[in-house]
Amino acid sequence: MKNSEIKKYYKKKIDEIKKHNKLYFQDNSPKISDQQYDQIKKEIFDLENKYSYLKSPSSPSETLGYTPSKNFTKSQHRVRMLSLSNAFGVEDLENFEKKIFNYLNNKIDIEYSVEPKIDGISASLTYKNGLLVMGTSRGDGTTGEVITENLKTIKDIPHKITDLDFPKDIDIRGEVFIKKDDFYNLKNDFANPRNAASGSLRQKNPSETKKIPLNFIAYTYGYFQNDKIKKQSDFLSYLKKWGFKINEYNKVLKTIKDLESFHKKFENDRFNLKYDIDGLVYKINSLDLQKRLGFTANSPRWAIAHKFSANSAFSQITDINIQVGRTGALTPVARIKPVNIGGVVVSNATLHNEDEIIRKDIRIGDTVKIERAGDVIPHVILVDIKKRKKKSKKFVFPNNCPSCGSDTIKEFNRITKKYDAVRRCVNEGYDCEKIAIEKIKHFISKEAMNIDGLGKKVVENFWDLNFIRFPQDIYNLDYNKILNLEGWGELSVSNLKYSIDQSKKVSLERFLYAIGIRHIGVENARLLSEYTKSIKNFMSFVNKNKLNDFLNIDGIGETQINSLKKFFDNKINYVVIEKLSKILNISDLKLNKDGKLRNCTFMFTGKLLNMSRAEAKSLIEENSGSVVSSVNKKLKYLIIGEKPTNRKVQQAKELGIKILSQKEWISLLD
Ligand code: IVH
Repeated sequence: MKNSEIKKYYKKKIDEIKKHNKLYFQDNSPKISDQQYDQIKKEIFDLENKYSYLKSPSSPSETLGYTPSKNFTKSQHRVRMLSLSNAFGVEDLENFEKKIFNYLNNKIDIEYSVEPKIDGISASLTYKNGLLVMGTSRGDGTTGEVITENLKTIKDIPHKITDLDFPKDIDIRGEVFIKKDDFYNLKNDFANPRNAASGSLRQKNPSETKKIPLNFIAYTYGYFQNDKIKKQSDFLSYLKKWGFKINEYNKVLKTIKDLESFHKKFENDRFNLKYDIDGLVYKINSLDLQKRLGFTANSPRWAIAHKFSANSAFSQITDINIQVGRTGALTPVARIKPVNIGGVVVSNATLHNEDEIIRKDIRIGDTVKIERAGDVIPHVILVDIKKRKKKSKKFVFPNNCPSCGSDTIKEFNRITKKYDAVRRCVNEGYDCEKIAIEKIKHFISKEAMNIDGLGKKVVENFWDLNFIRFPQDIYNLDYNKILNLEGWGELSVSNLKYSIDQSKKVSLERFLYAIGIRHIGVENARLLSEYTKSIKNFMSFVNKNKLNDFLNIDGIGETQINSLKKFFDNKINYVVIEKLSKILNISDLKLNKDGKLRNCTFMFTGKLLNMSRAEAKSLIEENSGSVVSSVNKKLKYLIIGEKPTNRKVQQAKELGIKILSQKEWISLLD
């Protein structure tokens, strides 16, 4: 990469981190997980290490990224509140130690104070003569927000300390957090417990803070003239003696090997804790050594946070529900005790299908490992059999549809000669309530009719109110009735009406996708629309029992034809299309009937040069020709590319069909 490109890329990453800092610190509404945030930060650090000319005042190596809110008075910290650098594996830990030995110019035996890293909000408490005189948030590390009254509402924070050993002037620092159970009972909009703690702590009115049960665990000091206490672990014991809560799992360890094995064990055990922790903090235990090592721009040289992997977690299955999809597929979903996975609270996990449950022998009550990666729905990776109760019973998958009671079947796939893993409700129309709702949700979705004023929740609500039973009902809604519903106003109703009206003009391919025929996704709907050109023409294939003709379309096979037949065997689907075609303006595809290739049918065999099959096909269609997929009498030209199928060439010859090379075919167009 050129220097200018590296700089451009670096700037892009800095802009990204700035955006997420604002979302996290100022708006209390992060849009990415901590792990993703750490990844961007790491990329910036790596770039800065590799290319020394890269530096930005907004780099996380220069700032803590956060400007205190204007809502509170500010106060400069007497000792800066820094963050910790992160380690993700043993290599990072070895590097951390190596840097310490280099700095001290000596290889020494190190003792570590090991402390769980609670995922909360740090706060600093200034005590003078035993009285809590000020409490601040971290702010930008140099200046914090004065939130004394809010902090005073937390029961774990002593307002007055009488212990004779307690220093006359000290800043006690620690973490404010909310316990998992309290968070789940809150029923609020926060994405995770940390956001709830942060939001609560920064309320303008302390009585609002008091409503949320916050906790405080102390772990370090800011300003403190200390010549007595020699070790971090001793300081923690003093904190306890003075009346602060400290973490019950704090311990002292010596080697990286010990740190590594404790981390490994704790990574699983953490799910049994009452609060979220996202790693372990390792601090050099000797306070003299800490002093000698000091700080880099924004983190101490004597401490590091060893993070846990953020995309999986253990939880317990409280129930297994069966969801019915648009095509009748029964999908088992595990309801789990809510668990924080990489910053997102997860309470459901898909179990995919009946076979998956049988294969993994997943049962209600089981402790399971759940994985959440990107936008993929969280799923169960394994069952912890050791934690299974003796009287636990195998999960019995229902034989009938939980929505309409119809029989369910597993289809036999003639091609793979296997039964489908998915069990389906046989009711493929609008008689099954759940299927009907899902069909309507599909109808309004982005790639279908794209009615964005009508979300999935609204569909459910309108269904419950008996406003809609079929897709066409969307176009006969009584807007006056909607206006009277809770949560609706003039503006939202007029937006809804606007997006419904807008959707009335629709392309054929969108419409064919929207009606929800199994196996006819966006791509196949496009193929059908290109072939049939108009809804009238499409329906004439249906009415004349000529659906098999679609086999001529490259890409449409027996599976799609069978699915179309099954769909139209159900008269209600037919009625829905009839009604919708009267309401909607389904645009025809422009037919160029007078092109150079009119009345010509083509078929390809072999690989074309510098052109995909799809491009070749549209070239033919643009010139009024058509493409078929089998050699028969109706075929006029067989176009042969590289490595053609001999059998097809032979058949064509036998039937007297003209054979063209790619070049000859192109010359027909010129
Ligand atoms: S010590 C100079 N100890 O982690 C080091 N921090 O990224 C100051 N945290 O802002 C922090 N548990 O919010 C320390 N036992 C612990 C901690 C801890 C959680 C948080 C704290 C800090 C962040 C560092």
